Amino acid sequence: MKFFIDTANLAQIKEAEDLGVLDGVTTNPSLMAKEGIKGEANILKHYVDICNIVSGDVSAEVISTEFEGIKKEGEALASLHKQIVVKVPMIKDGVKALKYFSSKGIKTNCTLVFSAGQALLAAKAGATYVSPFIGRLDDVSTDGLDLIRDIRTIYDNYRYKTQILAASVRHPMHIINCAKLGADVATCPLSAITALLKHPLTDSGLAQFLADAKK
Ligand code: G3P
Repeated sequence: MKFFIDTANLAQIKEAEDLGVLDGVTTNPSLMAKEGIKGEANILKHYVDICNIVSGDVSAEVISTEFEGIKKEGEALASLHKQIVVKVPMIKDGVKALKYFSSKGIKTNCTLVFSAGQALLAAKAGATYVSPFIGRLDDVSTDGLDLIRDIRTIYDNYRYKTQILAASVRHPMHIINCAKLGADVATCPLSAITALLKHPLTDSGLAQFLADAKK
């Protein structure tokens, strides 16, 4: 299973990269705004800065919602760096754009996916990644993990190559359950990745070993 970090914070990306388990980064307009990145030039530079920290795929989201705009924006983003993956919303023109980018060999991440039908469309359009938002489904009393399970079944039935990128991951159990269900990638906040490290028996066991080593 691949781990992506879901942030535009360079320090957190560096910390996750230094841990040695990071496979990529996802961002979105809200995460860029959270870091105070404003203006087209600054936004584009920030994507390049992220690409220079990690060696894997970096999702950069378009903000256009009609085909020509998505195409223009996505091509500009893809030309920034070979690691850029163009993130496209699951809307009608987005599906058309996924197909277009796929035909041009541009990697894509279909975002804001909340149903198996949307994930099926993304795969048919040739998306590299599909991003089901499991935490936001949980927020509305719908089990996000059921969606991961359904998408895995559908993609396996037809051998779709689109990778399931579990998004809106909030805590370590989301990561573990997504791994059990066969999601290809989980994109997570740094806190969820580092929470996987923790176990009280590890801490107490280490304390005992270190104490005994002094004897
Ligand atoms: O990867 C999508 C993610 O950024 C959304 O997460 O926590 O805002 O639902 P959240």
